[in-house]
Amino acid sequence: MNFFVINGPNLNMLGIREPDVYGKNTYDDLCILLKSEAQKRNVDIDIFQSNHEGEIVDKIQSAVFHRVDGIIINPAAYTHTSIAILDALKAVNIPAVEVHISDVDAREDFRKISYAGMYCFRKISGEGFMGYVKAMDALIEKIGNARL
Ligand code: DQA
Repeated sequence: MNFFVINGPNLNMLGIREPDVYGKNTYDDLCILLKSEAQKRNVDIDIFQSNHEGEIVDKIQSAVFHRVDGIIINPAAYTHTSIAILDALKAVNIPAVEVHISDVDAREDFRKISYAGMYCFRKISGEGFMGYVKAMDALIEKIGNARL
């Protein structure tokens, strides 16, 4: 299986940014964890981060041409604003899971709105970096069942 992991704005600042909310581990730590967990599951992953909405849209669109089986996406602040990211997910029509490191539903009201979540079949929030690993397993299960 072949997955994209797509991270939105400010996630490159993990470790520096609000450690009380997002923890002390860095974005590189996240990438190392994801590569090793993907390898254990025999999954190929392409990990991408951008601070720019259009680049995230371009990356989602490119999933079609790379025959991607599943998308793990943390759109970060664009979760709560971006219809363009929602439309891109709908356009590619590839199973996707929404991940948030923090528990967005326990924070400000504006974080309770999720446009990407209107497409994703699962939302994993407040589980730190492990949320991405759980998302990987959710995609493997979903795709495996679809192939039965
Ligand atoms: C986040 C939650 C968002 O509300 C916030 O804007 C982020 C990160 C998370 O992973 O907890 O940048 O997506």
